[in-house]
Amino acid sequence: MASIRSLWTGLVVLGVLGVLGVLQMGAQAQVSMQPDFQQDKFMGRWFSAGLASNSSWFREKKATMSMCSTVVAPSADGGLNLTSTFLRKDQCETRTMQLQPTGTPGSYSYHSPRWGRTSLISVVEINYDEYALVDTKGVDHDFRMATLYSRTQTPRAELKEKFSTFCEAQGFTEDTIVFLPQTDKCLKEEE
Ligand SMILES: *[C@@H]1O[C@H](CO)[C@@H](O)[C@H](O)[C@H]1NC(C)=O
Ligand SMILES: *[C@@H]1O[C@H](CO)[C@@H](O)[C@H](O)[C@H]1NC(C)=O
Repeated sequence: MASIRSLWTGLVVLGVLGVLGVLQMGAQAQVSMQPDFQQDKFMGRWFSAGLASNSSWFREKKATMSMCSTVVAPSADGGLNLTSTFLRKDQCETRTMQLQPTGTPGSYSYHSPRWGRTSLISVVEINYDEYALVDTKGVDHDFRMATLYSRTQTPRAELKEKFSTFCEAQGFTEDTIVFLPQTDKCLKEEE
C-alpha cells in the first residue's frame, strides 16, 4: 500500500515537473517583440541581407545562397503577403508566402502547403526605413531561423553587427549565420 502511494506521489511529481519543463521550454523559445509594431510601415520592398538557421537544409545551401528581394503587402485577412524573388538555376523565381495574423501585432503564422508545417514569424525589432530583425520558429516541427531584412542591398556594418549579436543571443553559432551576397540578377524593381 505504502509503495503504491509513493509510486503515485512519484508519478504526480514527475507530471508536475513535466508541465514545468514544457512551460520553461515555451518561455525560452519566446523572443521579444517590437513594441508598438506598425504593420503599415512594414510594407514595401526589403532585401534579405542576413540569415541564420541551424537546419541541415540551410547548412548545405548557405554557401550558394544570394540576397533576395521581398515585397511585403497587406492581405485580405489582415495578414501579409510576402512575395520573394530569388535566383534559382539561373532563373528568377517568385514565391508568395501568405502570413496569417495571430492577434499579437508583429506576429504571424505561416502554413507551408508544400511541407504541411506551420511556423510562427515574429518581428523582433524594426525601424521601418532601414532594417527588420525577424524570428521564425516551427510550431509543429523543430526549426529556428533569424532573418535580417534591409531596405538597401548594402546594410551598414553596425547593422550586420547587431544581427550577429541577436543571432548569438538566440543560440545560433557563428557558422550558422550568413550575410548574403548581392547578385546583379533578380533584385531590380521589376514589379
Ligand atoms: C537547432 O537548434 C535547436 C535549439 O536551438 C535544436 O533543438 C535543434 O535540434 C537544432 N537543429 C539542428 C538541425 O541542428
Ligand atoms: C496574396 O497572395 C495570394 C497567393 O499568391 C493571392 O492569391 C492573393 O490575391 C494575394 N493577396 C493580395 C491582397 O494581394
